[in-house]
Amino acid sequence: METSTSHNRREFLQRSALLTAGLALGGASVGRATAPARPSTSVLSAPKRKIGTLDVSALGLGCMSMAGVYNAPQPKAAMVKLIRQAVEHGLTFFDTAEVYGPFYSEEIVGEALAPFRNQVQIASKFGFRFQGDQVTGKDSSPPHLRRAVEGMLQRLKIETLDLCYLHRMDPNTPIEEIAGAVGDLIREGKVRNFGLSEVSPDTLRRAHAVQPVAALQSEYSMLERVMELDMIPLCEELGIAFVPWGPLCRGMLTGRFDKNYVPDAQYRRAGVPYFTPEALEANLNLVDLLKRWAAKKTSTSVPVTPAQIALAWLLAQTPFIVPIPGTTNPDHLLENIGAMGLTFTPAELQTLRTEIEQIPTVGFRAPASVFQDL
Ligand SMILES: NC(=O)c1ccc[n+]([C@@H]2O[C@H](COP(=O)([O-])OP(=O)(O)OC[C@H]3O[C@@H](n4cnc5c(N)ncnc54)[C@H](OP(=O)(O)O)[C@@H]3O)[C@@H](O)[C@H]2O)c1
Repeated sequence: METSTSHNRREFLQRSALLTAGLALGGASVGRATAPARPSTSVLSAPKRKIGTLDVSALGLGCMSMAGVYNAPQPKAAMVKLIRQAVEHGLTFFDTAEVYGPFYSEEIVGEALAPFRNQVQIASKFGFRFQGDQVTGKDSSPPHLRRAVEGMLQRLKIETLDLCYLHRMDPNTPIEEIAGAVGDLIREGKVRNFGLSEVSPDTLRRAHAVQPVAALQSEYSMLERVMELDMIPLCEELGIAFVPWGPLCRGMLTGRFDKNYVPDAQYRRAGVPYFTPEALEANLNLVDLLKRWAAKKTSTSVPVTPAQIALAWLLAQTPFIVPIPGTTNPDHLLENIGAMGLTFTPAELQTLRTEIEQIPTVGFRAPASVFQDL
């Protein structure tokens, strides 16, 4: 007998095939000639994964660059529309932070998701002190973080934040105090789950001993695999979900850049060592691999793109991973959502792993200064 889960899964795969097919017919961003077919506007049920007490869509949506970072801040109405489109197509998990903008990304997310409060899960992050819209330092002292969470709830137009992350470790506040303060907010009903972002294994263990950690967020992609050495095994040991940010390596793994790409000095890619001319040229070997796999996995009815291979590969690494690709572009959003319908056989995963490991990664994910105070 068919269960509703298997029915939903089949419906999702069929629809994501249609989405992907539509994009493959015409997404200008991937250099195709005709206009994209309109995907269905009915609600999809995406595959679910667990983060603490939350059942979230297997893929989330990163809402950082809506407020700038890789591009200029985007008009609010367009981003509200894009987030609602994501909900319409099955995404339920949305990632923001007070520092994105600052505050602007949370305002967009709050407005976009207000009509869908009971259908979605919202994650945000605290950890910085601000003067106006300038970041003046790290601060997660309990009184400051309590005020920060109040501000988030207001901007997000919610009473309880589903997942509240420490964004960057504050060198002046012991992690036990931070975990304890978030624990108090959970008991008061202001927060549902505690998360950490970019911390060391020791910090994660110490926090978890005080207040169970639901999610660790850190950079992880097919190019940037350092988390496989310690943090992902530690998450497995402690029963913590892993939320990869940068799952497309800031767009590189989509195939949108060639070796002549020069990052705009105003935006963040310009400071990322993976994008120096030498590193980019070498790292494009991995993009070529993605293109070959995209061609290999493409069938006449279901075209596949490099971005989808990169995201589906992450999803296949463990069941406790929930990648949050970021986009400001509705075509890219639909393309990325299509990755949830793509699977690999165990033999394909093994071959892919062997091929990936034959390609040396050149560069580093961020300047060393970012990795102080983990
Ligand atoms: N915890 C942390 O410290 C931390 C740090 C950074 C980010 N994050 C979170 O993680 C999320 C994702 O990370 P990220 O945005 O840095 O990196 P990402 O998801 O790897 O890449 C985002 C970039 O890829 C482009 N892109 C996305 N899908 C595409 C597609 N199908 N085709 C072509 N280009 C595509 C986007 O441009 P378009 O807008 O043109 O699509 C954007 O420039 C963020 O939004 C944020 O919520 C957390």
